[in-house]
Amino acid sequence: MSERTFTRYRLIYTLLSIAFVVFSGFVYTQAVPENNKVVSSKAVQGKMLWQQHNCSSCHQLYGLGGYLGPDLTNTLSSKGKGRDYAAAIMKSGTQVMPDFHLNDAEIEALLAFLEHADKSGNNRVHSYKIGRDGTITSEGETRK
Ligand code: HEC
Repeated sequence: MSERTFTRYRLIYTLLSIAFVVFSGFVYTQAVPENNKVVSSKAVQGKMLWQQHNCSSCHQLYGLGGYLGPDLTNTLSSKGKGRDYAAAIMKSGTQVMPDFHLNDAEIEALLAFLEHADKSGNNRVHSYKIGRDGTITSEGETRK
């Protein structure tokens, strides 16, 4: 390797190292959004039930999951739906959704989990604008 190539590589290496350190510093000093900090134990229990019953085989959260049933990210804050509606469907199922024989405490936990999902995301992903740094912002559409 010639002396010039070596110097050039060293310069590139140095610049990339500096960029890495600066970017890491930037990322680690960003404030964590409030709704990412606290997950109630009820919501955690709801997530366990969600996994146990494999709800995501039919439902999506944040746009990911199965497609037999609707996306549940914003069901609790959707017009004409909400907690009671979701609880009723979980309680007895429908013609197309199985009845999991969930008891009231389990339904409460699943509602807490869905409430957390509702507060932390939006399933209308296509309405987001992707910024130059890869972050996304909602285009005029407010969640609630
Ligand atoms: C076999 C597929 C399947 C599984 C598994 C399933 N669901 Fe569903 N679910 C559906 C379908 C289909 C609908 C739409 C029901 C209808 O329109 O009659 C639905 C509707 C719902 C709704 C109402 C959503 C809305 O926006 O109308 C909720 C809440 C719900 N499911 C929760 C759950 C939970 C919690 C689990 C796991 C314990 C689960 N589902 C598992 C198929 C499923």
